[in-house]
Amino acid sequence: MKEVKIGFIGCGGNANGHMRTLSNMEGARIVGTCDVQESRANSAAENYNAEPYTNHHTLLERNDLDAVYLSLPVFAHGQPELDVIERRLPFLVEKPVAINMEIARQIEEAVAAAGVITCVGYQLRYSGSAQIARQILDGKEINIVIGKYWCGSGRGNPDSWVRQMNRSGGQLVEQVTHTIDMMRYLVGEVEEVFALQANRILKDIDCPDNNCVTMKFTNGAIGSLTTSWSYDPGDWSNANVLDFLYEDQLVHWDAGKVQVKEDGQFVDKTAPGPSIDEVFVAAVRNDDGSKILSPYSDAVKSLAISLAANRSGQENAPVRV
Ligand SMILES: NC(=O)c1ccc[n+]([C@@H]2O[C@H](COP(=O)([O-])OP(=O)(O)OC[C@H]3O[C@@H](n4cnc5c(N)ncnc54)[C@H](O)[C@@H]3O)[C@@H](O)[C@H]2O)c1
Repeated sequence: MKEVKIGFIGCGGNANGHMRTLSNMEGARIVGTCDVQESRANSAAENYNAEPYTNHHTLLERNDLDAVYLSLPVFAHGQPELDVIERRLPFLVEKPVAINMEIARQIEEAVAAAGVITCVGYQLRYSGSAQIARQILDGKEINIVIGKYWCGSGRGNPDSWVRQMNRSGGQLVEQVTHTIDMMRYLVGEVEEVFALQANRILKDIDCPDNNCVTMKFTNGAIGSLTTSWSYDPGDWSNANVLDFLYEDQLVHWDAGKVQVKEDGQFVDKTAPGPSIDEVFVAAVRNDDGSKILSPYSDAVKSLAISLAANRSGQENAPVRV
C-alpha cells in the first residue's frame, strides 16, 4: 500500500484529533507539523515523529508531501490554501472554509484551475446515520426541517478567536455550519434566510448568543434553526439535531442515529461509517476524489448560508443566499 505523507498547517485541538486518527491508520504518515505557536508545532512533531515548522512556506518546501491538512482559525484562511494549491497538493481543510465569501471564492477558483482533490471537514456526512437518513428521505417531498444547536460553547474564554465575531463569524459560522451543511445534504439548497439574533446572557462577547433562522429551500421545503451558545455546557443532547417532516412522517436525525416509525413505534437505526480521514487518505492514494462528500466548492455553499443569516440578523431583513 502506497504510504501517504501528510503535512499539517495548524496544530490546535481539532488538528490533534485528525493526527490521532491518522497515526492509527495503515498507510498514512504525518511528516511535518506547522503552527505559528512553536510549542504546538513542536509537541505535535514529537508525538508523531515529524518535523516541526512555524511557517507554512517552509513546510511546503518539502518535496515528500502527498497531502496537507489545514486546521486553522476561521480568520486565518486564504494564503495558506492558495500556497498549498500552488504546490498542487490535495488538501483537507476544516470547516468553515473562510471568514467571508471573497476569500472562499478566490480559493474555490484556484482549486478549480489546479484540479486538486479537496475535502472539507464536514465529517457528519460520512456517519452511518446520515447515510440512513439520505436513503429514507431520498425522493420524498419534505415539508419542513427543524434544526437545533444548543450548547454552552460561548461560555469559554472570551479572548479566544472563537468568541470574537470578526475572527470566527460567531456560532452560526464557526459551529452551526455543521447543522446547516446537514440540512443542505438531506433537504437541498437554501435560497433565502431570515434570522433573528440576540445577545441575552454572554455580555462579555460581541457574538449573538442565541439565533433563530428561517430558511426557504429551492425545492419548496421550509426550515427553522434555533441555536444557543449560552446553554448548559454539560449538555450536548440538543446540539446538532434535526427533525424532518415528510408527507405524514417524522424522521429524527443526530450524529449517532436516525429515529423513524415502523409499525407505529419509533425505532433507532444506526450503521457504521468511515472516518473522513480514511476517505481523504484513500482519495489521495488512488488519485480519485469521487468518494469525498464535501469537496471545497460544495462547502462554500454552506458558508454562504451562515454568512447570509448573520447579515439578515444584522439588517433585520430576509437575505437571498
Ligand atoms: N469538524 C469538526 O467537527 C471540528 C471540530 C473542532 C474544530 N473544527 C474547526 O477546526 C479549525 C481549528 O479549530 P481548533 O479548535 O483546532 O482551533 P485552535 O485555535 O485550537 O487551533 C488553530 C491553530 O492554528 C494555528 N494557526 C493560526 N494561524 C496559523 C497559520 N497561519 N499557520 C499555521 N498555524 C496557524 C494556531 O496557532 C492554533 O494552534 C476551526 O476551523 C474549527 O471550526 C472542526
